[in-house]
Amino acid sequence: MSIRVRVNGVEKELEVDPEMPLLWALRDVLGLTGTKFGCGQALCGACTVHLDGQVVRACVTPVSRAAGRAVTTIEGLSPDGSHPLQKAWVDLGVPQCGFCQAGQIMTAAALLAKKPKPTDADIDQSLAGNLCRCGTYNRIRAAVKKAAGVSEE
Ligand code: FES
Ligand code: FES
Repeated sequence: MSIRVRVNGVEKELEVDPEMPLLWALRDVLGLTGTKFGCGQALCGACTVHLDGQVVRACVTPVSRAAGRAVTTIEGLSPDGSHPLQKAWVDLGVPQCGFCQAGQIMTAAALLAKKPKPTDADIDQSLAGNLCRCGTYNRIRAAVKKAAGVSEE
């Protein structure tokens, strides 16, 4: 079956099983490997992407749900890595192994789009579903605040 999806601003025609997880379509069909597979069960957030600006877990989202809609992955967040979150992530050296970080950034980007000046509680709440086995949570929070231009409380 053919499914049309706008991925990072470009129309794509995917010849895939409509039940295929969006994550497989992104990684295996389109070669966008920035989005990671962690648990496959909507438990870790490593696969977080935006669907029409809302965060979704791509591992449990059938690609058919994205038909006619816009998907944004970490590769599409900014053309040159200049999104304020990406800059703050680099400035503060947030990642350790890095595996969870694309998902963290995509969740944070959706938060800042909705709430440009989030509180600590907003950040903690919105990122609660994004797990980091390396425990970079404090740096993540600091980087979100830096990107938002809010000072540490
Ligand atoms: S891989 Fe999708 S939430 Fe863990
Ligand atoms: S940086 Fe290693 S899991 Fe988060």
